Amino acid sequence: MIGRPQDSRQRIIVALDVADEAGLLRLVDVLHGRVGMFKIGKELFTSLGPRAISLVRDRGGEVFLDLKYHDIPNTVAGAVRSAARLGVSMLSVHASGGSGMLRAAVDAALEGASAPAIIAVTLLTSLGPADVDDLGFTGQPRDVVLRLAALGLSAGVDGLVTSPREVEPLRRKHGQDPLLVTPGVRLAGGAADDQARVATPKKAVRDGADYLVIGRPITRDPDPAAAADRIALELSEDY
Ligand code: C5P
Repeated sequence: MIGRPQDSRQRIIVALDVADEAGLLRLVDVLHGRVGMFKIGKELFTSLGPRAISLVRDRGGEVFLDLKYHDIPNTVAGAVRSAARLGVSMLSVHASGGSGMLRAAVDAALEGASAPAIIAVTLLTSLGPADVDDLGFTGQPRDVVLRLAALGLSAGVDGLVTSPREVEPLRRKHGQDPLLVTPGVRLAGGAADDQARVATPKKAVRDGADYLVIGRPITRDPDPAAAADRIALELSEDY
């Protein structure tokens, strides 16, 4: 089971938001060994399948499989078993799948020799107060996030995906145990792109994030390796 990152490089999870093998190799060939993990999401997995995972693993990289499973418990358990066999270190599920589904995911992960960490997504950050209302959830988005986080953790998940804004309240409420994985990270003065709620890497870690999911600030940089090194250096000043 993947634990807490041991150094600032390991904190960085690079989002491989590319659609093909050439795009994947362009990044993984220069970034492996410089960052902690590579996130494979729906775009890349739908286009390349499990090959996306083996291309990363063959180069010594660790994989966060971000397919956000949300289905009946039996189906999610099967998907988690398959992901574990592919050698992923971390995978995501939707907390709103309910406690039965979450427990089934956790149990399935623990069956194999090397259990992937199960990370629960609470409420998608693209959803605002009106969406939350339409979905029939009560309270503000932040209340829903905190409720779904508690549900996930009581079902035994290893951690949560959380926006920079919720890192601090989640740490306060749930202590040091859960792994907190935070997207929306931007360097001071860098482009926010389409991210509405951003924090610098240093602020996210100071607030309690373990892992930072970083895409464009690294992948769109003309020199992705140098960009990753800059972020790791900025983070290492906190150690
Ligand atoms: O390019 P950027 O750094 O914005 O990429 C962030 C990554 O984290 C993307 O893969 C995006 O899908 C993911 N993510 C996010 N916000 C969430 C959950 C996931 O940006 N709430």
